[in-house]
Amino acid sequence: MAYMSGDRPQKPGTRRPRVTGKGKGRGTRVGGRPLASRVKTAKGRKSSSTRWLRRQLNDPYVAEAQRLGYRSRAAFKLAELDDRFRFLKKGARVVDLGAAPGGWCQVAVERTNVLGFDGNQGRVVGLDLQEMEAIAGAELLQGDFLDDKILKSLLQVLAGPADIVLSDMATDATGHRATDHLRIIGLLEVAVDFAGQVLTPGGAFVGKVLKGGTENDLLNRLKRDFKIVRHAKPPASRDDSAESYVVAQGFRGTSMRNTGAG
Ligand SMILES: C[S@@+](CC[C@H](N)C(=O)[O-])C[C@H]1O[C@@H](n2cnc3c(N)ncnc32)[C@H](O)[C@@H]1O
Repeated sequence: MAYMSGDRPQKPGTRRPRVTGKGKGRGTRVGGRPLASRVKTAKGRKSSSTRWLRRQLNDPYVAEAQRLGYRSRAAFKLAELDDRFRFLKKGARVVDLGAAPGGWCQVAVERTNVLGFDGNQGRVVGLDLQEMEAIAGAELLQGDFLDDKILKSLLQVLAGPADIVLSDMATDATGHRATDHLRIIGLLEVAVDFAGQVLTPGGAFVGKVLKGGTENDLLNRLKRDFKIVRHAKPPASRDDSAESYVVAQGFRGTSMRNTGAG
């Protein structure tokens, strides 16, 4: 597994973008109605690419992510979920699975105070199949979460319990709904297993699910292991996307079961 970065906290005064949109405090608001951009169909460009480009150009979340220095519009999904459920607490240790290009890591670094100097600093460890550019304060690993060797390395880097496990993992869509669904649920199941191993009592798990919510067996397991389990589709998640998120809070178990870490 490639260890992509282990940047130490930056000096005070270094620019730290906040996902607050307009207005004060922690609230995330992105909106307004930008003028629609038109995309000329270039010779050789597939119409699906043209549609994608048009959607990007007209998406206020894309514009706001660029303005605030976020790697992805997905940053707003985590920020909106956290505005609602308040799981990213100052000083929390976070594992972010399927982290690339890094929007969730950026929000987690900011909200858990990884770069803070007041003693209550958080920690963010991100993992992805893809290589990621360094994010100040985040420890980034490259590898397949489904590979036992990678999982072992992740546990070694973590070297202790986590307060929050995030999983936005998704495979490239095949276009075959049943296959895509099974793949995402498979990733979610392994992420829930991992959360069960590393979470500290009271900890939280946030994972991507597809339409229809969490499969019954998995949902029952989450309800058994966490005090509160809810589904939410943050406003930044596109209406035409089947994704939503399961947010489980108040982990009842004991941390570091069978991890061999620490
Ligand atoms: C929707 S993107 C995540 C976006 C990210 N949350 C952000 O804010 O930038 C899904 C990611 O899951 C990653 N992924 C899918 N399967 C994975 C696996 N088995 N192990 C690690 N990462 C995986 C993909 O490489 C992809 O980068």
